[in-house]
Amino acid sequence: MTNAARVHFNTTVEEADPLVADALASERARQQNQIELIASENIVSRAVLDALGHEITNKTLEGYPGNRFHGGGQFVDIAEQAAIDRAKQLFNCGYANVQPHSGTQANLAVFFLLLKPGEKVLSLDLAAGGHLSHGMKANLSGRWFDANNYSVNPQNEVIDLDEMERIAEEIRPKLLITGGSAYPRELDFERMSKIAKKVGAHFLVDMAHIAGLVAGGVHPSPFPHADIVTCTTTKTLRGPRGGLILTNNEEWYKKLQAAVFPGVQGSLHSNVLAAKAICLGEALRDDFKVYAGQVVANAKVLAETLSDRGVRIVSGGTDTHIVLLDLSSKGLIGKQAETLLAKANITSNKNPIPGDSPRPPEWVGMRLGSSAATTRGLKEEEFRVLGHVIADLIDAETKGEADEIVGAAKAKIAELTEKFPVYGH
Ligand SMILES: Cc1ncc(COP(=O)(O)O)c(C=O)c1O
Repeated sequence: MTNAARVHFNTTVEEADPLVADALASERARQQNQIELIASENIVSRAVLDALGHEITNKTLEGYPGNRFHGGGQFVDIAEQAAIDRAKQLFNCGYANVQPHSGTQANLAVFFLLLKPGEKVLSLDLAAGGHLSHGMKANLSGRWFDANNYSVNPQNEVIDLDEMERIAEEIRPKLLITGGSAYPRELDFERMSKIAKKVGAHFLVDMAHIAGLVAGGVHPSPFPHADIVTCTTTKTLRGPRGGLILTNNEEWYKKLQAAVFPGVQGSLHSNVLAAKAICLGEALRDDFKVYAGQVVANAKVLAETLSDRGVRIVSGGTDTHIVLLDLSSKGLIGKQAETLLAKANITSNKNPIPGDSPRPPEWVGMRLGSSAATTRGLKEEEFRVLGHVIADLIDAETKGEADEIVGAAKAKIAELTEKFPVYGH
Protein backbone atom coordinates (compact mmCIF):
# COMPACT_ATOMS: atom_id res chain seq x y z
CA MET A 1 0.00 0.00 0.00
CA THR A 2 1.37 3.43 -0.83
CA ASN A 3 1.53 6.04 1.86
CA ALA A 4 -0.86 8.22 -0.10
CA ALA A 5 -3.40 5.41 -0.25
CA ARG A 6 -2.99 4.63 3.45
CA VAL A 7 -3.69 8.26 4.31
CA HIS A 8 -6.57 8.45 1.85
CA PHE A 9 -8.33 5.35 3.17
CA ASN A 10 -7.72 5.80 6.88
CA THR A 11 -7.80 9.48 7.76
CA THR A 12 -11.00 10.40 9.59
CA VAL A 13 -12.95 13.55 8.85
CA GLU A 14 -11.79 14.96 12.21
CA GLU A 15 -8.17 14.56 11.15
CA ALA A 16 -8.62 15.48 7.50
CA ASP A 17 -10.88 18.48 7.66
CA PRO A 18 -11.44 20.14 11.05
CA LEU A 19 -13.71 22.82 9.58
CA VAL A 20 -16.20 20.34 8.13
CA ALA A 21 -15.75 17.97 11.07
CA ASP A 22 -16.74 20.78 13.45
CA ALA A 23 -19.79 21.56 11.34
CA LEU A 24 -20.80 17.88 11.39
CA ALA A 25 -20.30 17.59 15.14
CA SER A 26 -22.28 20.77 15.73
CA GLU A 27 -25.08 19.54 13.49
CA ARG A 28 -25.19 16.24 15.39
CA ALA A 29 -25.48 18.14 18.68
CA ARG A 30 -28.09 20.50 17.19
CA GLN A 31 -30.26 17.57 16.17
CA GLN A 32 -30.03 16.06 19.66
CA ASN A 33 -30.67 19.33 21.49
CA GLN A 34 -33.64 20.72 19.57
CA ILE A 35 -37.14 19.52 18.83
CA GLU A 36 -37.62 19.36 15.09
CA LEU A 37 -41.01 20.62 13.99
CA ILE A 38 -40.24 21.34 10.33
CA ALA A 39 -42.90 19.28 8.57
CA SER A 40 -40.63 18.09 5.77
CA GLU A 41 -38.05 16.64 8.13
CA ASN A 42 -37.67 13.35 9.90
CA ILE A 43 -34.92 11.30 11.52
CA VAL A 44 -33.75 8.30 9.50
CA SER A 45 -32.85 4.97 11.07
CA ARG A 46 -29.28 3.93 11.83
CA ALA A 47 -29.61 1.38 9.00
CA VAL A 48 -30.49 4.14 6.49
CA LEU A 49 -27.55 6.23 7.74
CA ASP A 50 -25.22 3.24 7.37
CA ALA A 51 -26.24 2.79 3.74
CA LEU A 52 -25.82 6.51 2.97
CA GLY A 53 -22.25 6.47 4.24
CA HIS A 54 -21.35 3.11 2.67
CA GLU A 55 -18.69 2.39 0.04
CA ILE A 56 -21.50 1.60 -2.39
CA THR A 57 -21.49 5.36 -3.01
CA ASN A 58 -18.37 4.84 -5.17
CA LYS A 59 -20.28 2.88 -7.79
CA THR A 60 -21.18 4.71 -10.98
CA LEU A 61 -24.07 3.23 -12.94
CA GLU A 62 -26.46 4.33 -15.61
CA GLY A 63 -29.49 2.37 -16.76
CA TYR A 64 -31.64 -0.06 -14.82
CA PRO A 65 -31.08 -3.40 -13.00
CA GLY A 66 -29.82 -6.03 -15.46
CA ASN A 67 -29.29 -3.42 -18.15
CA ARG A 68 -26.45 -1.11 -17.16
CA PHE A 69 -23.99 0.92 -19.16
CA HIS A 70 -21.15 0.03 -16.76
CA GLY A 71 -19.83 -3.20 -15.30
CA GLY A 72 -19.73 -4.19 -11.65
CA GLY A 73 -23.34 -3.27 -10.93
CA GLN A 74 -24.51 -6.64 -9.62
CA PHE A 75 -24.82 -5.55 -5.99
CA VAL A 76 -26.41 -2.21 -6.71
CA ASP A 77 -28.86 -4.20 -8.86
CA ILE A 78 -29.89 -6.13 -5.74
CA ALA A 79 -30.48 -2.92 -3.79
CA GLU A 80 -32.34 -1.18 -6.63
CA GLN A 81 -34.51 -4.21 -7.35
CA ALA A 82 -35.37 -4.47 -3.64
CA ALA A 83 -36.36 -0.79 -3.64
CA ILE A 84 -38.54 -1.30 -6.74
CA ASP A 85 -40.24 -4.43 -5.37
CA ARG A 86 -40.83 -2.89 -1.95
CA ALA A 87 -42.18 0.38 -3.41
CA LYS A 88 -44.67 -1.59 -5.53
CA GLN A 89 -45.77 -3.71 -2.59
CA LEU A 90 -45.97 -0.79 -0.17
CA PHE A 91 -48.00 1.46 -2.44
CA ASN A 92 -49.92 -1.30 -4.20
CA CYS A 93 -48.97 -0.39 -7.77
CA GLY A 94 -47.55 -2.13 -10.83
CA TYR A 95 -44.45 -0.10 -11.67
CA ALA A 96 -41.91 1.95 -9.78
CA ASN A 97 -38.92 4.05 -10.76
CA VAL A 98 -36.78 4.61 -7.68
CA GLN A 99 -33.98 6.67 -9.22
CA PRO A 100 -35.15 10.32 -9.01
CA HIS A 101 -32.56 12.28 -7.06
CA SER A 102 -35.29 14.38 -5.44
CA GLY A 103 -39.00 15.08 -5.45
CA THR A 104 -38.49 17.98 -7.83
CA GLN A 105 -36.59 15.70 -10.24
CA ALA A 106 -39.40 13.14 -10.03
CA ASN A 107 -41.96 15.79 -10.99
CA LEU A 108 -39.73 17.10 -13.76
CA ALA A 109 -39.49 13.57 -15.20
CA VAL A 110 -43.29 13.30 -15.16
CA PHE A 111 -43.60 16.65 -16.98
CA PHE A 112 -41.01 15.40 -19.50
CA LEU A 113 -42.97 12.15 -19.91
CA LEU A 114 -46.46 13.58 -20.31
CA LEU A 115 -46.22 17.16 -21.57
CA LYS A 116 -44.83 19.24 -24.37
CA PRO A 117 -43.54 22.73 -23.51
CA GLY A 118 -46.40 25.20 -23.34
CA GLU A 119 -49.06 22.64 -22.43
CA LYS A 120 -51.45 23.35 -19.59
CA VAL A 121 -51.07 22.19 -16.02
CA LEU A 122 -53.54 22.74 -13.18
CA SER A 123 -52.11 22.55 -9.64
CA LEU A 124 -52.65 23.77 -6.09
CA ASP A 125 -51.76 27.41 -5.47
CA LEU A 126 -48.45 27.86 -3.61
CA ALA A 127 -50.02 30.05 -0.93
CA ALA A 128 -52.64 27.35 -0.36
CA GLY A 129 -49.91 24.76 0.22
CA GLY A 130 -48.80 23.74 -3.31
CA HIS A 131 -45.20 23.00 -4.34
CA LEU A 132 -42.86 25.05 -6.52
CA SER A 133 -42.24 22.09 -8.85
CA HIS A 134 -45.93 22.13 -9.83
CA GLY A 135 -45.68 25.28 -11.91
CA MET A 136 -44.17 28.12 -9.91
CA LYS A 137 -43.05 30.80 -12.34
CA ALA A 138 -39.45 30.77 -11.03
CA ASN A 139 -39.25 26.99 -11.55
CA LEU A 140 -38.76 25.29 -14.91
CA SER A 141 -42.25 23.76 -14.50
CA GLY A 142 -43.76 27.26 -14.56
CA ARG A 143 -41.34 28.76 -17.08
CA TRP A 144 -41.75 26.08 -19.77
CA PHE A 145 -45.35 25.03 -19.13
CA ASP A 146 -48.62 26.92 -18.88
CA ALA A 147 -49.31 26.59 -15.16
CA ASN A 148 -52.68 27.43 -13.66
CA ASN A 149 -53.90 27.08 -10.09
CA TYR A 150 -56.88 25.97 -8.08
CA SER A 151 -57.03 26.91 -4.43
CA VAL A 152 -58.83 26.38 -1.16
CA ASN A 153 -62.26 27.70 -0.25
CA PRO A 154 -61.58 30.95 1.67
CA GLN A 155 -64.25 30.03 4.26
CA ASN A 156 -63.08 26.56 5.35
CA GLU A 157 -59.58 26.60 3.79
CA VAL A 158 -60.14 23.13 2.33
CA ILE A 159 -59.46 22.48 -1.39
CA ASP A 160 -62.47 23.71 -3.31
CA LEU A 161 -63.25 20.77 -5.58
CA ASP A 162 -66.12 22.57 -7.29
CA GLU A 163 -63.78 25.41 -8.20
CA MET A 164 -61.17 22.88 -9.34
CA GLU A 165 -63.78 21.33 -11.62
CA ARG A 166 -64.90 24.70 -12.97
CA ILE A 167 -61.32 25.81 -13.77
CA ALA A 168 -60.48 22.39 -15.26
CA GLU A 169 -63.51 22.60 -17.54
CA GLU A 170 -62.58 26.12 -18.57
CA ILE A 171 -58.87 25.63 -19.29
CA ARG A 172 -58.83 21.87 -20.05
CA PRO A 173 -55.34 21.10 -18.68
CA LYS A 174 -53.27 18.21 -19.97
CA LEU A 175 -52.16 17.46 -16.41
CA LEU A 176 -54.06 17.88 -13.14
CA ILE A 177 -51.77 17.81 -10.09
CA THR A 178 -52.64 17.50 -6.45
CA GLY A 179 -50.51 17.37 -3.32
CA GLY A 180 -48.41 20.02 -1.67
CA SER A 181 -46.01 21.12 1.01
CA ALA A 182 -48.32 22.80 3.47
CA TYR A 183 -51.79 21.34 3.00
CA PRO A 184 -52.95 19.76 6.26
CA ARG A 185 -56.15 18.04 5.11
CA GLU A 186 -57.02 14.68 3.58
CA LEU A 187 -57.07 14.70 -0.23
CA ASP A 188 -60.10 13.36 -2.08
CA PHE A 189 -58.29 11.45 -4.86
CA GLU A 190 -61.46 9.81 -6.18
CA ARG A 191 -63.28 13.05 -6.88
CA MET A 192 -60.16 14.68 -8.33
CA SER A 193 -59.58 11.75 -10.68
CA LYS A 194 -63.17 12.10 -11.90
CA ILE A 195 -62.52 15.76 -12.63
CA ALA A 196 -59.33 14.86 -14.53
CA LYS A 197 -61.13 12.22 -16.57
CA LYS A 198 -64.01 14.56 -17.37
CA VAL A 199 -61.64 17.09 -18.98
CA GLY A 200 -59.27 14.54 -20.53
CA ALA A 201 -56.34 15.35 -18.22
CA HIS A 202 -53.78 12.98 -16.74
CA PHE A 203 -53.92 12.92 -12.95
CA LEU A 204 -50.67 13.25 -11.00
CA VAL A 205 -50.65 12.89 -7.22
CA ASP A 206 -47.50 14.26 -5.60
CA MET A 207 -47.71 12.59 -2.19
CA ALA A 208 -44.27 13.81 -1.06
CA HIS A 209 -45.47 14.92 2.35
CA ILE A 210 -47.95 12.18 3.06
CA ALA A 211 -46.19 9.12 1.55
CA GLY A 212 -45.44 7.74 5.03
CA LEU A 213 -49.05 8.28 6.09
CA VAL A 214 -50.27 6.46 2.96
CA ALA A 215 -47.74 3.68 3.61
CA GLY A 216 -48.91 3.44 7.21
CA GLY A 217 -52.57 3.32 6.20
CA VAL A 218 -53.61 6.56 7.90
CA HIS A 219 -54.23 8.54 4.70
CA PRO A 220 -56.15 7.10 1.71
CA SER A 221 -53.95 5.81 -1.10
CA PRO A 222 -53.79 7.69 -4.42
CA PHE A 223 -54.10 4.29 -6.14
CA PRO A 224 -56.21 3.25 -7.95
CA HIS A 225 -57.34 6.81 -8.73
CA ALA A 226 -54.08 8.46 -9.83
CA ASP A 227 -52.53 7.90 -13.25
CA ILE A 228 -49.10 8.59 -11.84
CA VAL A 229 -47.74 9.27 -8.37
CA THR A 230 -44.56 10.99 -7.25
CA CYS A 231 -43.09 11.39 -3.81
CA THR A 232 -39.96 12.02 -1.84
CA THR A 233 -38.51 9.31 0.37
CA THR A 234 -37.77 11.95 2.99
CA LYS A 235 -40.54 13.50 5.14
CA THR A 236 -43.13 11.13 6.64
CA LEU A 237 -41.68 8.13 4.76
CA ARG A 238 -38.54 8.63 6.87
CA GLY A 239 -35.92 7.70 4.31
CA PRO A 240 -32.99 9.27 2.45
CA ARG A 241 -33.21 12.42 0.34
CA GLY A 242 -34.67 11.33 -3.00
CA GLY A 243 -37.79 10.65 -5.03
CA LEU A 244 -39.98 7.85 -6.40
CA ILE A 245 -42.34 7.65 -9.37
CA LEU A 246 -45.15 5.08 -9.31
CA THR A 247 -47.77 4.07 -11.85
CA ASN A 248 -50.06 1.25 -12.97
CA ASN A 249 -49.80 2.29 -16.62
CA GLU A 250 -47.73 -0.34 -18.43
CA GLU A 251 -47.57 1.67 -21.62
CA TRP A 252 -46.07 4.67 -19.81
CA TYR A 253 -43.61 2.57 -17.85
CA LYS A 254 -40.94 2.22 -20.54
CA LYS A 255 -41.23 5.86 -21.46
CA LEU A 256 -41.05 6.74 -17.78
CA GLN A 257 -37.77 4.86 -17.41
CA ALA A 258 -36.37 6.87 -20.31
CA ALA A 259 -37.85 10.10 -18.94
CA VAL A 260 -35.86 9.67 -15.72
CA PHE A 261 -32.68 8.38 -17.40
CA PRO A 262 -31.49 9.81 -19.74
CA GLY A 263 -34.39 12.28 -19.83
CA VAL A 264 -33.66 14.39 -16.79
CA GLN A 265 -30.87 12.54 -14.97
CA GLY A 266 -27.57 10.81 -15.56
CA SER A 267 -26.04 8.23 -13.25
CA LEU A 268 -27.90 7.00 -10.22
CA HIS A 269 -26.98 7.57 -6.57
CA SER A 270 -26.10 4.02 -5.50
CA ASN A 271 -25.91 4.73 -1.76
CA VAL A 272 -29.27 6.50 -1.82
CA LEU A 273 -30.86 3.59 -3.70
CA ALA A 274 -29.67 1.19 -0.99
CA ALA A 275 -31.03 3.55 1.66
CA LYS A 276 -34.35 3.81 -0.21
CA ALA A 277 -34.64 0.01 -0.22
CA ILE A 278 -34.04 -0.01 3.55
CA CYS A 279 -36.59 2.71 4.32
CA LEU A 280 -39.22 1.05 2.11
CA GLY A 281 -38.55 -2.23 3.92
CA GLU A 282 -39.02 -0.45 7.23
CA ALA A 283 -42.29 1.07 6.02
CA LEU A 284 -43.64 -2.40 5.21
CA ARG A 285 -43.35 -3.45 8.85
CA ASP A 286 -46.23 -3.30 11.32
CA ASP A 287 -44.39 -0.91 13.63
CA PHE A 288 -44.41 1.66 10.82
CA LYS A 289 -48.22 1.67 10.96
CA VAL A 290 -48.00 2.44 14.69
CA TYR A 291 -45.57 5.29 13.95
CA ALA A 292 -47.82 6.70 11.19
CA GLY A 293 -50.88 6.62 13.46
CA GLN A 294 -48.92 8.36 16.20
CA VAL A 295 -47.72 11.06 13.76
CA VAL A 296 -51.32 12.06 13.04
CA ALA A 297 -52.47 11.70 16.66
CA ASN A 298 -49.62 13.95 17.79
CA ALA A 299 -50.34 16.59 15.13
CA LYS A 300 -53.99 16.67 16.20
CA VAL A 301 -53.02 17.25 19.85
CA LEU A 302 -50.61 20.01 18.83
CA ALA A 303 -53.34 21.70 16.76
CA GLU A 304 -55.93 21.38 19.54
CA THR A 305 -53.57 22.68 22.23
CA LEU A 306 -52.57 25.73 20.18
CA SER A 307 -56.16 26.38 19.14
CA ASP A 308 -57.32 26.23 22.78
CA ARG A 309 -54.64 28.82 23.53
CA GLY A 310 -56.09 31.17 20.90
CA VAL A 311 -53.80 30.53 17.93
CA ARG A 312 -55.87 30.21 14.75
CA ILE A 313 -55.21 26.91 12.96
CA VAL A 314 -55.62 27.11 9.18
CA SER A 315 -58.59 24.91 8.12
CA GLY A 316 -59.44 24.44 11.81
CA GLY A 317 -57.20 21.40 12.36
CA THR A 318 -55.32 18.64 10.60
CA ASP A 319 -55.71 15.15 9.15
CA THR A 320 -51.97 14.73 8.60
CA HIS A 321 -48.64 15.56 10.24
CA ILE A 322 -48.97 19.26 9.28
CA VAL A 323 -50.32 22.01 11.52
CA LEU A 324 -50.48 25.40 9.85
CA LEU A 325 -50.73 28.42 12.17
CA ASP A 326 -52.15 31.83 11.33
CA LEU A 327 -50.04 34.06 13.56
CA SER A 328 -51.97 37.17 12.63
CA SER A 329 -54.45 35.85 15.23
CA LYS A 330 -51.75 36.83 17.77
CA GLY A 331 -50.48 39.92 15.96
CA LEU A 332 -47.22 38.22 14.86
CA ILE A 333 -45.61 37.21 11.55
CA GLY A 334 -44.01 33.89 10.66
CA LYS A 335 -40.40 35.02 10.71
CA GLN A 336 -40.81 36.50 14.18
CA ALA A 337 -42.24 33.27 15.56
CA GLU A 338 -39.62 31.13 13.81
CA THR A 339 -36.83 33.17 15.44
CA LEU A 340 -38.58 33.10 18.79
CA LEU A 341 -39.09 29.31 18.81
CA ALA A 342 -35.46 28.80 17.75
CA LYS A 343 -34.35 30.60 20.93
CA ALA A 344 -36.04 27.83 22.89
CA ASN A 345 -34.53 25.11 20.64
CA ILE A 346 -37.70 24.41 18.67
CA THR A 347 -37.06 24.35 14.91
CA SER A 348 -39.88 25.45 12.63
CA ASN A 349 -40.49 27.49 9.48
CA LYS A 350 -42.46 30.51 8.41
CA ASN A 351 -44.91 29.66 5.65
CA PRO A 352 -47.57 31.37 3.59
CA ILE A 353 -51.18 30.64 4.46
CA PRO A 354 -54.10 30.98 2.02
CA GLY A 355 -54.39 34.61 0.94
CA ASP A 356 -51.01 35.53 2.46
CA SER A 357 -48.64 38.22 1.18
CA PRO A 358 -46.52 37.20 -1.83
CA ARG A 359 -43.48 38.51 0.10
CA PRO A 360 -41.93 35.87 2.43
CA PRO A 361 -40.83 38.44 5.07
CA GLU A 362 -44.50 39.39 5.48
CA TRP A 363 -45.97 35.88 5.71
CA VAL A 364 -48.17 35.46 8.75
CA GLY A 365 -48.09 31.66 8.64
CA MET A 366 -45.99 29.07 10.39
CA ARG A 367 -45.87 25.39 9.41
CA LEU A 368 -45.32 22.76 12.08
CA GLY A 369 -45.05 19.01 11.58
CA SER A 370 -45.07 16.07 13.96
CA SER A 371 -43.05 13.37 12.15
CA ALA A 372 -39.51 13.90 13.44
CA ALA A 373 -40.49 14.30 17.09
CA THR A 374 -42.79 11.27 16.78
CA THR A 375 -39.82 9.25 15.54
CA ARG A 376 -37.98 10.27 18.73
CA GLY A 377 -40.81 8.74 20.72
CA LEU A 378 -42.87 11.77 21.76
CA LYS A 379 -46.55 11.01 22.19
CA GLU A 380 -49.72 13.02 22.88
CA GLU A 381 -48.63 14.04 26.39
CA GLU A 382 -45.36 15.53 25.14
CA PHE A 383 -47.02 17.21 22.15
CA ARG A 384 -49.41 18.89 24.60
CA VAL A 385 -46.37 20.19 26.47
CA LEU A 386 -44.89 21.39 23.16
CA GLY A 387 -48.15 23.16 22.27
CA HIS A 388 -48.15 25.00 25.60
CA VAL A 389 -44.47 25.95 25.35
CA ILE A 390 -45.11 27.40 21.87
CA ALA A 391 -48.26 29.20 23.01
CA ASP A 392 -46.45 30.62 26.08
CA LEU A 393 -43.70 31.98 23.83
CA ILE A 394 -46.15 33.46 21.35
CA ASP A 395 -48.25 35.09 24.09
CA ALA A 396 -45.15 36.53 25.74
CA GLU A 397 -43.87 37.88 22.41
CA THR A 398 -47.25 39.52 21.82
CA LYS A 399 -46.78 41.38 25.12
CA GLY A 400 -43.11 42.15 24.40
CA GLU A 401 -42.06 39.88 27.30
CA ALA A 402 -40.60 36.89 25.46
CA ASP A 403 -37.06 37.33 26.79
CA GLU A 404 -38.37 36.71 30.29
CA ILE A 405 -39.71 33.24 29.52
CA VAL A 406 -37.25 31.92 26.90
CA GLY A 407 -35.10 30.33 29.62
CA ALA A 408 -38.02 28.37 31.09
CA ALA A 409 -39.17 27.27 27.61
CA LYS A 410 -35.65 26.11 26.77
CA ALA A 411 -35.48 24.09 29.97
CA LYS A 412 -38.75 22.31 29.13
CA ILE A 413 -37.40 21.45 25.66
CA ALA A 414 -34.14 20.20 27.20
CA GLU A 415 -36.18 17.85 29.42
CA LEU A 416 -37.81 16.39 26.31
CA THR A 417 -34.61 16.09 24.26
CA GLU A 418 -32.82 14.34 27.13
CA LYS A 419 -35.72 11.96 27.70
CA PHE A 420 -36.01 11.17 23.98
CA PRO A 421 -32.46 11.07 22.56
CA VAL A 422 -31.49 10.44 18.94
CA TYR A 423 -28.93 7.87 17.75
CA GLY A 424 -26.14 7.18 20.24
CA HIS A 425 -26.73 10.18 22.53
C1 LIG B 1 -45.23 18.22 -2.45
C2 LIG B 1 -43.77 18.25 -2.69
N1 LIG B 1 -43.29 17.85 -3.86
C3 LIG B 1 -41.98 17.88 -4.14
C4 LIG B 1 -41.08 18.29 -3.20
C5 LIG B 1 -39.65 18.42 -3.62
O1 LIG B 1 -38.81 17.57 -3.04
P1 LIG B 1 -37.23 17.86 -3.11
O2 LIG B 1 -36.98 18.89 -2.09
O3 LIG B 1 -36.68 16.50 -2.80
O4 LIG B 1 -36.92 18.30 -4.49
C6 LIG B 1 -41.52 18.68 -1.94
C7 LIG B 1 -40.52 19.12 -0.94
O5 LIG B 1 -40.75 19.80 -0.03
C8 LIG B 1 -42.90 18.68 -1.68
O6 LIG B 1 -43.36 19.10 -0.51
